[in-house]
Amino acid sequence: MKERKVKIAVLVSGGGTNLQALLDAEKSGKLKSGKISLVVSNNENAYALTRAKNAEVPTRVITKAGFGDGFETELIKAIKGAGAELIVLAGFMSILSERFTKEFENRIINVHPALIPSFCGKGYYGLKVHEAALSYGVKVTGATVHFVNEIPDGGKIIMQKAVEVLPSDTPESLQKRVMREAEWQILPAACELVCEKILTGEKL
Ligand code: GAR
Repeated sequence: MKERKVKIAVLVSGGGTNLQALLDAEKSGKLKSGKISLVVSNNENAYALTRAKNAEVPTRVITKAGFGDGFETELIKAIKGAGAELIVLAGFMSILSERFTKEFENRIINVHPALIPSFCGKGYYGLKVHEAALSYGVKVTGATVHFVNEIPDGGKIIMQKAVEVLPSDTPESLQKRVMREAEWQILPAACELVCEKILTGEKL
């Protein structure tokens, strides 16, 4: 009998290196309890869409410009239509409303490029997070995978990994190291953990 897998919808906005890490993990068997079944982008030019197409994963573009107030309703429709049970925010640059997060309680995870509760919350995304870490002068930063609730970056932490900050770092070099050493490792690992728990019915 074919083993059951949790269908995953990945929400993206940009380059999609975290999506790539998930696709690679599925291919290599590191992500074995879940199947990436849909990739949704809120940006039609996101390179993440090309990565999804290369892996033969169905894609949708749902933009705020295109759907206005119906943006989240359309997102929910697409996710439910794909039968997804887990939503992964992989560089998704839009804050979701409480209505959305309540609809999928304990079923949305996000990767954030810092050690929460540092450098997180509204306004802290992408390169801005690393600029803030460097200007504060921390010697260690990292990445966090957490559940998503109505508070930006405020849901329960699932996994974290620390990364050293070097004296020569620029925001760009730090971003790359955090991605390579932390995000691309813990996002697939956390995803597998959550999918396993969904399959076994274990408490999340
Ligand atoms: C990643 O560093 C991700 O952690 C961050 O944006 C980048 C997306 O890169 N997300 C946030 O800042 C969300 N608050 P990617 O498109 O190559 O995965």
